[in-house]
Amino acid sequence: MMPAGLLGIEELERSEIEAILNRAKDFQPLENQSFKRLDLLRGKMIVNLFFEASTRTRTSFEIAAKRLGADAISITAAGSSVSKGESLVDTLNTLAAMRPDAIVMRHSASGAPHFLARHLPRTPIINAGDGTHEHPTQALLDARTILDRKPTLEGLRVAIIGDIAHSRVARSNIYLLSKFGAEIVLCGPASLLPAGLACMAPGVRLTYDIREAIRDADVVMMLRVQLERQHEAAFPAGEYFQFYGLRLEHLDLIKPDALVMHPGPINRGREISSEVADSQRSVILNQVENGVAVRMAVLERILTSHAETAH
Ligand code: CP
Repeated sequence: MMPAGLLGIEELERSEIEAILNRAKDFQPLENQSFKRLDLLRGKMIVNLFFEASTRTRTSFEIAAKRLGADAISITAAGSSVSKGESLVDTLNTLAAMRPDAIVMRHSASGAPHFLARHLPRTPIINAGDGTHEHPTQALLDARTILDRKPTLEGLRVAIIGDIAHSRVARSNIYLLSKFGAEIVLCGPASLLPAGLACMAPGVRLTYDIREAIRDADVVMMLRVQLERQHEAAFPAGEYFQFYGLRLEHLDLIKPDALVMHPGPINRGREISSEVADSQRSVILNQVENGVAVRMAVLERILTSHAETAH
């Protein structure tokens, strides 16, 4: 049984992750076909509450809800009464009074969706990224994208490179990939790669050398340097690309069928070169496409299981 929402990958069973990934496959459109509109969540109201910028996650949650026949509205901090000084609790109480069936929340504070879930125990809360903690649907769509091209996650060598310290995407991926027996190599400058991350999950190791990290990798996940979460730049911008940017010459080191991934938004010329981002190895836009199918699977699972338990 799923909890009444989705707050993180850490607390999910492997079987729950598999169920979401399998269901997402049903929702993937066939080649050259658009998504079908379904009626599975007709009458449901989903509120997307985004206190932080987003293009991919917010749009794909909204599209996913609408494809399932639900109504979806998106609220951003800038366009809401938060900008007039309303507190988080008052904003949540106001939204709860309108009886949404689920709230999708992104917030710059780690733990904000967990606070929301405690405050509104009868409303399923979906974490769309909280601070530096987790971004569960990103890890799910990343896994779906890998499994569209590889038979299993078990034994895959996955290199995650960049600003690991501030990355909720890295944390959710580490939890997910380790549950499935992948070998995970984390790489970045020491200032962005805390040594304690090696103890986060089985199968994780650290290196500060990008060449060592990507050698014979099956998957290379590049991460953006999150300047907005750093009080001062941890690494000079020009040098970052020289030492940790993924460039064409690196592709000779990874396996011939290796995938290059990035959750976006990408910063060309900072963590990845344009040539690599646009290369045959890159599945960056496939990740975006899978965001809709995976979020459809998550919304269906949460809203239908919540409806069953509510009666
Ligand atoms: N990957 C991701 O979360 O992108 P957005 O910030 O655009 O939602």
